[in-house]
Amino acid sequence: MNPSLLLTALCLGIASAAPEFDHSLNTQWELWKAVHRRLYDLNEEGWRKEVWKKNMKMIELHNQEYSEGKYSFSMAMNAFGDMTNEEFRQVMNGFQRQKNKKRKVSQETIFASIPLSVDWREKGYVTPVKDQGKCGSCWAFSTTGALEGQMFRKTGKLVSLSEQNLVDCSQPEGNHGCQGGLTDNAFQYVLDVGGLDSEESYPYTGLAGTCHYNPNNSAANVTGFVDLPKQEKALMKAVATLGPISAAIDASNPSFQFYKSGIYYEPKCSSESVDHAVLVVGYGFEGAHSDDNKYWLVKNSWGERWGMNGYIKMAKDRNNHCGIATMISYPTV
Ligand SMILES: *[C@@H]1O[C@H](CO)[C@@H](O)[C@H](O)[C@H]1NC(C)=O
Ligand SMILES: *[C@@H]1O[C@H](CO)[C@@H](O)[C@H](O)[C@H]1NC(C)=O
Repeated sequence: MNPSLLLTALCLGIASAAPEFDHSLNTQWELWKAVHRRLYDLNEEGWRKEVWKKNMKMIELHNQEYSEGKYSFSMAMNAFGDMTNEEFRQVMNGFQRQKNKKRKVSQETIFASIPLSVDWREKGYVTPVKDQGKCGSCWAFSTTGALEGQMFRKTGKLVSLSEQNLVDCSQPEGNHGCQGGLTDNAFQYVLDVGGLDSEESYPYTGLAGTCHYNPNNSAANVTGFVDLPKQEKALMKAVATLGPISAAIDASNPSFQFYKSGIYYEPKCSSESVDHAVLVVGYGFEGAHSDDNKYWLVKNSWGERWGMNGYIKMAKDRNNHCGIATMISYPTV
């Protein structure tokens, strides 16, 4: 066969396939809008569609390279598809960066003989994945997650706790409702008022409102909280022996925005500049036990459709990747 003929045929093939591709992208866009109930005016629709397309192409390229073995995790289109990375960071990552805030770190010695893998979900310590919506309240979800676990450890009963109570009421402790906050401030709030309402009695709205804490509906107490040293070993020991632990991470990258599955490792991640609070509910490894397949099992608060049914596996023991051990704490009950 004449090689130049073959080339022509292939080029023609590409040329005629291009509009087809765009057509299917349009169909996917219409479908995505319907699923996520987006209504825009004509002006906004134009640029939102461009943002969505850019994200879609980035995800497809990443997954192509993932299938070639270049990454340890895959990505997927999700509810954040029409948000630029800037918008996403503003809305979703409400963990305050308080670099100068003094933390009294507990200095416990670390001893050996802790298991190679832990998953507190299997022991009943963890409530279903929740959804913070478009409110920078991640810190409240990390707080309730850690407290739900410690209350279960104490009482044997798993009661879902109210993030809205924390969003509405913990301003005096230094939190800012949907504009961000710190888990330690939230633990301090529960300590100050002597309780925290149940999720059922004080449901989540995703909007900062008036505080209506009712001690009659309190389902938790704390006696204090502990800040752990900035070491993955300290986190491992705490997770292994106590239950789910609050942590903060750098969640600012598009790869996190559209994470789907696998062990998340992002070279652009910072170990210092953390902007999103989460809950570490376990750790483990995939395949044979080696240094680049260990992960932290992390509960997020972006609903079950994000990531692995709402969870993410984050690289473990790789120099505090994404700052997983930078701000770790738990309440004492
Ligand atoms: C709490 O319960 C007590 C006793 O039933 C009642 O008198 C009180 O009004 C309740 N407090 C609130 C804030 O609902
Ligand atoms: C919290 O502590 C107070 C005071 O000790 C107590 O009256 C209350 O029953 C406790 N609440 C829970 C949910 O344990």
